[in-house]
Amino acid sequence: MRHSIYILDEVDSTNEYLKRTPLPEWSAVLARRQTAGKGRLGRRFESPEGLGMYLSVVLPADGSLAWLTPAAAVAARRVVAALGAECGIKWVNDIIAERPDGWRKLCGILVELRGERAILGIGIDLRQREEDFPEELREVCTSVTLEGGRAASPEEAAEMFLCELETLVSDENTVFSEYERYCVTPGKEILVKRLPQDAGVPARALRLARDYSLEVEYEDGRTERLRAGEASIRPRE
Ligand code: BTN
Repeated sequence: MRHSIYILDEVDSTNEYLKRTPLPEWSAVLARRQTAGKGRLGRRFESPEGLGMYLSVVLPADGSLAWLTPAAAVAARRVVAALGAECGIKWVNDIIAERPDGWRKLCGILVELRGERAILGIGIDLRQREEDFPEELREVCTSVTLEGGRAASPEEAAEMFLCELETLVSDENTVFSEYERYCVTPGKEILVKRLPQDAGVPARALRLARDYSLEVEYEDGRTERLRAGEASIRPRE
């Protein structure tokens, strides 16, 4: 076991904490509450006290970087599934539950680079009830317990996640095969967005390529491979 976990009561963001604190690789910070939790594309990540796992870990930014985010998504999916909630991976790095009326997110991942180090931040919604989410998120978010899983503590979930991640970072073939198996995106009608405020271009997700890019087909028949970081997708109603 290479990781060690530091527990904080409150912090702005565990990613920001690790950026300003020189800790060795595989040091992880778990906060009971974040006052300025960050999501991708400058979004806010709601981090109410004790209801979710808010964790960041310092990793080497070496050759494994390209598949670090997929490895984290596979590790997170294993944790959520082991806690008893049915879930899949939405390209590129959200863990979601499939409901008849669409996808609901229960985990997000944010990787940031700082020189030689990668800061991998992950938030899992563990035991929120519907009313614990802000009104505008109630239709799009869910938690492990809302999906029928058991109410694990953030500490337990963090330990599970880091153990899974440690085994996966040296096994890229397993990461790809498991990512492909559980990725719910291929075959879906989607909107491709280059910027958060874009309305999105309608497309059909075709398949996941070996480099984790997503092949899509637009309505005019044109195809494109989307790389993580270049575009985001959301399901089309
Ligand atoms: C996303 O869904 O867009 C990514 C969410 C990442 C949230 C986690 S919670 C722990 C770490 N600290 C942060 O400020 N963000 C990440």
